[in-house]
Amino acid sequence: MEFFAKSGNPDKQRVGCVVVAIFERRKLSAAADIIDTVTDGLISSVMRRGDMDGKLGQTIVLQRPANLLCDRVLLVGCGRERQFDETAYRKANTAAANTLKNLGGIDAVNYLSELRVKGRDTAWLVKQGVMSALDSFYRFEQCRSQSEDNKRSLQRMTFAVASRTELADAENGLREGIAIGHGKDLAKDLGNLPGNLCTPTYLAEQAKKLAADNAKLSTTILEEDEMEKLGMGSLLSVSRGSREPAKLIIMEYNGGAKDDKPLVLVGKGLTFDAGGISLKPAAGMDEMKYDMCGAASVFGAVQAAVELGLPLNIIGVVPSSENLPDGAANKPGDIVTSMSGTTIEILNTDAEGRLILCDALTYVERNYQPAAVVDMATLTGACVIALGSHASALFTNNEKLGKALQAAGELSGDRAWPMPLWPEYDAQLKSPFADVANVGGREAGAITAAAFLGRFTKKLRWAHLDIAGTAWNSGKNKGATGRPVALLTEWLLSHVEN
Ligand code: BES
Ligand code: MN
Ligand code: ZN
Repeated sequence: MEFFAKSGNPDKQRVGCVVVAIFERRKLSAAADIIDTVTDGLISSVMRRGDMDGKLGQTIVLQRPANLLCDRVLLVGCGRERQFDETAYRKANTAAANTLKNLGGIDAVNYLSELRVKGRDTAWLVKQGVMSALDSFYRFEQCRSQSEDNKRSLQRMTFAVASRTELADAENGLREGIAIGHGKDLAKDLGNLPGNLCTPTYLAEQAKKLAADNAKLSTTILEEDEMEKLGMGSLLSVSRGSREPAKLIIMEYNGGAKDDKPLVLVGKGLTFDAGGISLKPAAGMDEMKYDMCGAASVFGAVQAAVELGLPLNIIGVVPSSENLPDGAANKPGDIVTSMSGTTIEILNTDAEGRLILCDALTYVERNYQPAAVVDMATLTGACVIALGSHASALFTNNEKLGKALQAAGELSGDRAWPMPLWPEYDAQLKSPFADVANVGGREAGAITAAAFLGRFTKKLRWAHLDIAGTAWNSGKNKGATGRPVALLTEWLLSHVEN
């Protein structure tokens, strides 16, 4: 799908569909008002008959309106005008895209981007519009023998701006929205791909592919024997129970000056998590193919940075493995030695994410002087209980970094919410036999998991995002969400603007 921006009157658009807003109750937006006038009150009469009163997310398609150059007009309910905020704007755009998806036209001009959202500029409106559209239009078709929908579908969406002076801003919004959207699409594809196809080896190949197309990006893959030499006993203990070899995938993007300290993204890449000997229950276990969504978000954000040509140095690190039960698998009570030298008592083999992440984080600490390190992981079921699917959990040892990530989440609508990392929680990880236990009991499970990682990041400006609740949807809309690619990319962008 292609996106454009332009200024111009809605009655002059020669396209499949013109999209305009209606507020509650029956209040016309500026663009709707022009159309109503030119069509001798078409919209007013539709509203009088009770077919549209502007409820948020409500849509109706008017076919072949007289005196207009377009084939259709799509009215989108935007709720109460005084309550029209970021969330409402996104919902309206999603409703519009979902309706357009089922229409026949190949192009549309969207006037929702002319609306005002308090505190947000044109670039933001266009960017969010693009992201909403790409979200709605996403399909995972890789594993079907035949495509499910073969209808002629929308190919071009143009966002309208009220005046030509806003076009430059709109173009910026387009560029960023498209790059972030593509990054999310990549993260969704990797997430949705099943565990038998999306293996650590597959992820490593994808990283190589990404680098092959881009001169500023290079990929290094560490194999198990190399990790052995580095002393990554914790990471390797997880993959021992699997027939798929573990990989440590490193992507280096050099867009900045030579001595600019890199921003490092680390993503949990469990391509399937059965729990190991601490086996998970059968129900819903298929969703543990999503246990590499942290890794997927690294791929997505790195790809977005490359597409935007950001003038930054960025490093993506993905420890990748399966977690399966096997004769060689970790057993409860086993003690392993991490790359840092810290010994770990594995009381629950299902708390494996932290076991692979700790060695990846130590690797980062030893090999780079990062400006900041952010790890993303579908780390705990407890996080889903705490925050549900609305926000990722944000942990950090650096307040400024935490604030910057939270702001990036707010800006993109891909939210994160802060959680505490007090020493009292860390104390729950005491082991009678080793330096640390890999679980801290039933209470505060998301926090003790983060505290475990905190033991390996003391020398780093570090943040951890638990994305267990946000990375995919369950139920009838099952599928990866592409989160937190938008948050991460906005965070990267915030280093460019300052
Ligand atoms: N990948 C899971 C976390 C998870 C579970 C995410 C369900 C989303 C939905 C992780 O490896 C795990 O199994 N964590 C355990 C930790 C526990 C053993 C301390 C969990 O959350 O149950
Ligand atoms: Mn697990
Ligand atoms: Zn896991």
